[in-house]
Amino acid sequence: MEVTNVTEYQAIAKEKLPKMAYDYYASGAEDQWTLAENRNAFSRILFRPRILIDVSKIDMSTTVLGFKISMPIMIAPTAFQKMAHPEGEYATARAASAAGTIMTLSSWATSSVEEVASTGPGIRFFQLYVYKDRNVVAQLVRRAERAGFKAIALTVDTPRLGRREADIKNRFVLPPFLTLKNFDGLDLGKMDQANDSGLASYVAGQIDRTLSWKDVKWLQSITSMLILVKGVITAEDTRLAIQNGAAGIIVSNHGARQLDYVPSTIMALEEVVKAAQGRVPVFLDGGVRRGTDVFKALALGASGIFIGRPVVFSLAAEGEAGVKKVLQMLRDEFELTMALSGCRSLKEITRDHIMTEWDAPRTLPAARINEEGRKALTDLDEEKRFRSEAVEELERKEEEFVANESEL
Ligand code: FNR
Repeated sequence: MEVTNVTEYQAIAKEKLPKMAYDYYASGAEDQWTLAENRNAFSRILFRPRILIDVSKIDMSTTVLGFKISMPIMIAPTAFQKMAHPEGEYATARAASAAGTIMTLSSWATSSVEEVASTGPGIRFFQLYVYKDRNVVAQLVRRAERAGFKAIALTVDTPRLGRREADIKNRFVLPPFLTLKNFDGLDLGKMDQANDSGLASYVAGQIDRTLSWKDVKWLQSITSMLILVKGVITAEDTRLAIQNGAAGIIVSNHGARQLDYVPSTIMALEEVVKAAQGRVPVFLDGGVRRGTDVFKALALGASGIFIGRPVVFSLAAEGEAGVKKVLQMLRDEFELTMALSGCRSLKEITRDHIMTEWDAPRTLPAARINEEGRKALTDLDEEKRFRSEAVEELERKEEEFVANESEL
């Protein structure tokens, strides 16, 4: 049957792949609450489309860190792509460059930075996990730079691996015919069997849990590539990332595979965008499966989005053609969403094109609220503050009363 949307690839991948591989790709951490929420939260954001605007020409192109791409839809790093398809990262690289967009290669790719570079021209970022052995990191960064990678996505949400119970049950390890290709010559390319998840043990053994902000500075000292900090979901860390020299931020919860019960990324996005104050671009990944999702992220201030699972699932189903189709479907849906919302270029997508559950009740777009409306909203806020202060006062009195009683 014809595939007509990105999500349909998941069921096909499930049929085609061995259970251990499919579960590794699909799983989230623990209760997988955040995994579901990454999708659900998008469905709670609604549109405020504008009509009767000439949308005969739509321009989706943009620049990311100075690199021109055809659309704000890029590829997130996902490990072990040859477990999905023999062509693995090669297929993804070719599909991304054919679509005129950026691919991020995982540190844990099953193809090396040099091999991916050999597939031909393309704008590529390299995702970095920081190993305990900093010589290994320095060598790898240098190789990525030499292979023409343009930026580093430094993953900061993985001091330890999140608890993915399917991987524990399956005793997940990389199939014997595959290695973490970037680490082959460094004696770190193999993952041993463990009596839980082999990957969790590998991370516990090799990844540097001491990683902190000073290391972002250190990374800058060993490379001229720009650094995106991947895994920020709070305003506090946004400010720290900027202070420490990040060229951009990726709002990510690692596809809900690390800490469960963090908010969906689309819910966290606006807080980060506000804290960034336009000083660096903010990107998002997590749960993007529709062109409408891309639009919603941009309306909340993202400069672009990345997709993770749709790439591995489509790769498993149809290899390079599958990844190409995923990128094309998202592109077409996003273009249609822009047209139906009355937006001809990315800069025409505004906050007023969507409404969220955390918006103040309003009948008019925020930008056009008149004096009277603004006053009504301020009064409402003050009333709320007054009420909560009154409640606090009551609670305090009650506690005092209880304390006095027990003294008596
Ligand atoms: C990931 N992700 C990830 N991130 C990273 O920094 N390095 C990595 O090697 C991987 N590997 C990886 C494998 C698989 C199978 C998944 C699903 C995810 C996280 C990834 O970059 C991205 O943050 C999420 O995948 C985005 O969410 P969606 O699009 O999968 O919902």
